[in-house]
Amino acid sequence: MARIRNAILKISEYVPGKTIEDVAQEYGFIPEEVLKLGSNENPLGPSPKAVQAVKDHAHTISVYPPAGAKELRHAMAQYVGYPVNQIVVGNGMDGVLDIFTRLFVEKNDEVIIPIPTFSYYELFTLACGAVPILVPRNSNFDIDVHKLLDAVNERTKLIFLCSPNNPTGNPIQESDLRQILDATEIMVILDEAYVEFADSSMVELVRGYENFIVTRSMSKAFGLAGLRIGYAVVPPEISREYMKVAPVFSVNRIGISAGVAALGDDEHLTQTIKTIRSGRDSLQNNIPFKVYPSQANFVLVDVSPFTSEEICESLLRKGIIVRDCRSFRGAGDSLIRVSVGTKEQNKRVIEAFKGVRT
Ligand SMILES: Cc1ncc(COP(=O)(O)O)c(C=O)c1O
Repeated sequence: MARIRNAILKISEYVPGKTIEDVAQEYGFIPEEVLKLGSNENPLGPSPKAVQAVKDHAHTISVYPPAGAKELRHAMAQYVGYPVNQIVVGNGMDGVLDIFTRLFVEKNDEVIIPIPTFSYYELFTLACGAVPILVPRNSNFDIDVHKLLDAVNERTKLIFLCSPNNPTGNPIQESDLRQILDATEIMVILDEAYVEFADSSMVELVRGYENFIVTRSMSKAFGLAGLRIGYAVVPPEISREYMKVAPVFSVNRIGISAGVAALGDDEHLTQTIKTIRSGRDSLQNNIPFKVYPSQANFVLVDVSPFTSEEICESLLRKGIIVRDCRSFRGAGDSLIRVSVGTKEQNKRVIEAFKGVRT
């Protein structure tokens, strides 16, 4: 391994959610019996218009996609209410975050990350040879603005925020965000992967701050996780620099067509949001453990006095995949993240939780 950079060797592998196939094989189910509520996917599936677009464009895949994915960026621009030169795209939000980290962070720089949160921020920071500065959140998982600003120094190049936060589900307060943006000129990235399920977005603030970026995903509310489409709303001057380092064909032809179609399907989006909000209430009110308030398409459950490992294992034996949050730094060993499913799926997971309590 001598040729691999030291920074990379130090990174622990990302732990993705278990797949339906893994669980079916390991626990003796047929795949159709397994319920996957571990990866925050859309329980209604993709928009039928996106599926049709995939079919319609299947014969074009021998041709490279249009550089810059302008048609898709136009549709996104319209959706978020910004000009197209303030929209950048990538291979999922993961791809977008990877590029931003490379854009702003050099070896030995520091990156501030309030934890627990999405683990890729730390991983991308480490991959740049930089140092993640992990700032614990308050007991209700709000950001401690004073602690965060105290961590800023001349080596700090980037602050990663997430709202609603994964895995805790709580949104950032606008006053907290403004306080951070007003106090520093350091780049702040706000990950809004789950914003469609929340009461509000902070995307309007990109207009007011040169150091503020909002990143978005089509994997959640738009149900296109398998296609890998992410984007960001950026100040205009950042867009030019992003284009220099982003792979020119990072969103593929099928992704462009399906993304445009999904953005034009208001009905599917509305139905998805409605399903998630009512399902979220149902999980919140019926899971017989402490469930944190959430504005995302998942809820965070504290299964104390049991451990998350024990409960996840007993749910797996019932063919249900949820997310054991031990892999989130700073989350302890009693938290489980449960994605909101359809009405029937939610009922099944609620019953399973009730079963472990008796
Ligand atoms: C907070 C957060 N950001 C980004 C992503 C990745 O999104 P994408 O599928 O667009 O790469 C996820 C996926 O789970 C997430 O939870």
